[in-house]
Amino acid sequence: MDKAELRRRIVAARAGLADPRGPATAIRETLLDQPWVQMAGLVACYWSMGTEPATHGLVFALWKHGATVILPVLQPDGDLDWAVYDGPGSLAPGPRGLMEPVDTRRGVDTIRTAALVIVPALAVDPVTGIRLGRGGGSYDRALARVGPNVPRVALLHEGELIGGVPAEPHDQAVSVAALPSGIVPIPG
Ligand SMILES: Nc1ncnc2c1ncn2[C@@H]1O[C@H](COP(=O)(O)OP(=O)(O)O)[C@@H](O)[C@H]1O
Ligand SMILES: [Mg+2]
Repeated sequence: MDKAELRRRIVAARAGLADPRGPATAIRETLLDQPWVQMAGLVACYWSMGTEPATHGLVFALWKHGATVILPVLQPDGDLDWAVYDGPGSLAPGPRGLMEPVDTRRGVDTIRTAALVIVPALAVDPVTGIRLGRGGGSYDRALARVGPNVPRVALLHEGELIGGVPAEPHDQAVSVAALPSGIVPIPG
């Protein structure tokens, strides 16, 4: 199956979920229980939209806990700039229905300093960790700047760990998949 077909299938399955925001609490609680999450001083995350596994509560909890949380600002070329989340009220509507932090843009290289990176995905291959995104390649660019020992966590709905996700040379892998049922380390 090619990427476009797999994307269509997963987007359709998500559209059929009775409560796409439902798994948010389980994912948040499981992640917040991990020492490597609790110890991360700078966390790159995303502000979820639509049927993505919801991150709003997770971002808030990380910030409350004292982490510095950076959120992406989509650039016209598809790359991701980063700005700091500073609590409710620190976001404003951006392009394509995205909510973006109002903070100063810190530059695309800011993600290099993150101790933990949490990314959206439509699917992750449980063997290779290759993630399928929405087709913009933004996170392939961002993850290419992340060090080898930094946990890269993709948030998924149940059933989105899928063997045989198509991989191209530019595709970046993640090291952990977080699902409502628990955390799955990728062996890679
Ligand atoms: N490192 C990169 N530099 C420039 N463009 C890139 C890079 N990585 C990916 N892209 C662009 O993003 C496009 C979409 O990538 P793809 O992996 O299909 O999307 P996604 O990762 O969102 O599923 C690629 O065809 C390529 O043009
Ligand atoms: Mg990709």
